[in-house]
Amino acid sequence: MNPAMMTAGPAEPRVESPGQMESAHRIEDSSQARCPYLVVRDTDAVREVLHRPADFSPGNALVAVTPLEGPALRALQRVGFALPPVLASNDTDTHAGIRKVVAGFFTPATVAAMEPRIRELAREAARNAADQLRFSGHVDLVQTVAAFPPAVVMLELLGLPVRDLAELKRWGIDSMELFWGWPDEDRQLELAHSAADFYVWLRKLVGASLKAPGRNLFKSLAEHGLSTPEMCSLGYFLLIAGQETTTQLISTTLFRLLEGSAPAGWSDAVSEAGSRSVVRHVLTTESSVPTWRRVAAHDTNLGDALIPAGAELLLELSGNQVTTPAGPGQPTAYGLVFGSGIHRCLGAKLAELEAAVTLQETAAALPGIRLREHQPEWIRLLSFQAPRTVTVTDRPR
Ligand code: HEM
Repeated sequence: MNPAMMTAGPAEPRVESPGQMESAHRIEDSSQARCPYLVVRDTDAVREVLHRPADFSPGNALVAVTPLEGPALRALQRVGFALPPVLASNDTDTHAGIRKVVAGFFTPATVAAMEPRIRELAREAARNAADQLRFSGHVDLVQTVAAFPPAVVMLELLGLPVRDLAELKRWGIDSMELFWGWPDEDRQLELAHSAADFYVWLRKLVGASLKAPGRNLFKSLAEHGLSTPEMCSLGYFLLIAGQETTTQLISTTLFRLLEGSAPAGWSDAVSEAGSRSVVRHVLTTESSVPTWRRVAAHDTNLGDALIPAGAELLLELSGNQVTTPAGPGQPTAYGLVFGSGIHRCLGAKLAELEAAVTLQETAAALPGIRLREHQPEWIRLLSFQAPRTVTVTDRPR
């Protein structure tokens, strides 16, 4: 068990109003309000933190926000669950080499060549949604068009078998809540069982992939010298980050378009330009990954502020979600929404392409729809957010 993974962790952060951010870099010390993070919202300061990895380590990227209690820890320990730092939370010089191996599966050329397949999956999903709408008068676009295609695309790109998709989706959301949410002890135990099942599945997948013909992620990582626990750790992060974040971006974009609060209408989403611009709008106002964390590796400075060793920073990458959890905030710089510097997201191009193509195909297949449920339940975690459902109808009011 990686102790760092399981120990640190605050209570749910309460947040301050923008007016309380006084310093030159607008660093918000919310510790008085039970928030254990220094919230960094100024674009230049966020970029500076991301570009100083020796001072601001990503070592806390996968630390549980809520400390895990005994029963949940034991459920994870029983299956040997461990997340040693390999990629997103790796602050050593092994990061660059491992990142290069993973990046080889998401090169710009590979992603561009995948577009016809992405479109095929999006079109098929949109057709199914249209059938379901005709049949029952309403349909949830999260389950029908947003949830599964990104998972299929990711597994195909990584050379992994496309199977157990429903479980993969459930494990992904459960693990996000376990590590980025505020579950009580009972909920932690449920989520820990789910994470343990995911981990066991992953270990079998790693073993089978090493013997499978052809190129795949785990063979490449093994050739690079990674151990099985390291490959499981990387797989655990990537199989969630590589698809659930895209599902959530698509879900929010569909919802805001259909709600009428996006700077474009439903029919504009049919075109490439319309869909691309509304995806970017959502990325900058309420991305599926609105914040990300860093920890001060030693006593250091950020602008005028002294940052003590061990201080945890919460970087605002998108919108003002930290202060306005009820709705989209002010746009932030597009250049930060996928992070920046040596840990910048490896799936940025893929995620934007998938979101835009899904919107185009869905808007084309379902032209006359409107929202049936205007106040859906939202996933609201420290670093992830999206409506859980986007239910639409084509029936008159
Ligand atoms: C809307 C979708 C997505 C968003 C908003 C998003 C956002 C992010 C953010 C904020 C980071 C942290 C960057 C940093 O620390 O500087 C990150 C890291 C990462 N993302 Fe994404 N991501 C998305 C989709 C994807 C997809 C589709 C993949 C893969 C296919 C992916 C793979 C990764 C990887 C591998 C890292 C870690 C990179 C490293 O540490 O070197 N992401 N992502």
